[in-house]
Amino acid sequence: MKKAVGILTGGGDAPGLNAVIWAVVKKGQEHGFEVIGIKDGWKGLIERECEVLTIDTVEDIYREGGTILGTSRTNPFKMEGGADKVEENIKALGLHALIAVGGEDTLGVAQKLHQEKGLPLVGVPKTIDNDLSATDYTFGFDTAINIITEALDRLHTTAKSHHRVMVVEIMGRHAGWMALYGGFSGGAHIIILPEEPFDLEEICQKIKERKKQGKNYTIVAVAEGAVPKEGQSFVTQSQGTDAFGHIRLGGIAKALEKEIQKRTGIETRNVILGHLQRGGAPSAFDRILGVRLGMKAVDIVAEGKFGYMAALKGTEIIAVSLEEAVGKLKVVPPNLMAEFQSLLK
Ligand code: F6P
Repeated sequence: MKKAVGILTGGGDAPGLNAVIWAVVKKGQEHGFEVIGIKDGWKGLIERECEVLTIDTVEDIYREGGTILGTSRTNPFKMEGGADKVEENIKALGLHALIAVGGEDTLGVAQKLHQEKGLPLVGVPKTIDNDLSATDYTFGFDTAINIITEALDRLHTTAKSHHRVMVVEIMGRHAGWMALYGGFSGGAHIIILPEEPFDLEEICQKIKERKKQGKNYTIVAVAEGAVPKEGQSFVTQSQGTDAFGHIRLGGIAKALEKEIQKRTGIETRNVILGHLQRGGAPSAFDRILGVRLGMKAVDIVAEGKFGYMAALKGTEIIAVSLEEAVGKLKVVPPNLMAEFQSLLK
């Protein structure tokens, strides 16, 4: 009798998700698993929306972006009886195990379901933000920083032609990994991270200094979660929060555009890269990482190590406890920030 193993993808989509799904189906064959794809993250388990995944239905998908299962930001613990419904449907579907692929929110739900209800959960870390502790990198991040790099390369040509300041807003929520690695690779002259409140006057001084040196254009990479030294954070896109309590960030580049132009007198424009950073096919690195994590998740299921997550440590793929993985956000450490800022002087 084949053991049924469920897989769901939750939270923001990321290039590499389909690589995980493909590997779970492929490797699952070795263990005689029948893989059940749950639609739209935790929502699909509450509504029992699922489909059997076969090697034919997942043919070649590891090269494609997004997730064939769909995703959502559903939190069962924020819904009346939601967690009980998940438990009921895991049993009704006869799932021997459930692999949850997601970021801090999705994996936080997985960890709670395992801890509080003893459910057979295994995690796979995912996010373009790269802000998950217990894993060195998350898939999606490499693709995103390559998109940012290419975008900034392109913005150099128009900034130079018009002698302008271009302020580019980069995702990453409250971690600055994307703004730092994508911004630096793309040749940003000023990089503003959430980890260090910024001084608007200092930024304007640097821009004016560049102009005095005859460098009559500047690229500013600003993380969407960055905040000014004094006063409340600039802007958010809406007052509401999602089911995990996150406000929708966005708009800081527009606010900075206005302030910089006013204080420097230099023509300034803003660009919000937004969901371009999550779109399109995964990079080679993210395809390989997604496949390796998916294979490890299947091994963890076969070993019955529930409550664990596949993770990258150096070049090895290991199993770490979900508890360790979701405890703390991984942000850019001060020494690394200082290292890169010294290069921008
Ligand atoms: O967590 C990934 C992420 O892309 C963040 O960087 C960003 O702030 C958020 O998701 C956007 O969420 P949504 O796609 O729900 O607007």
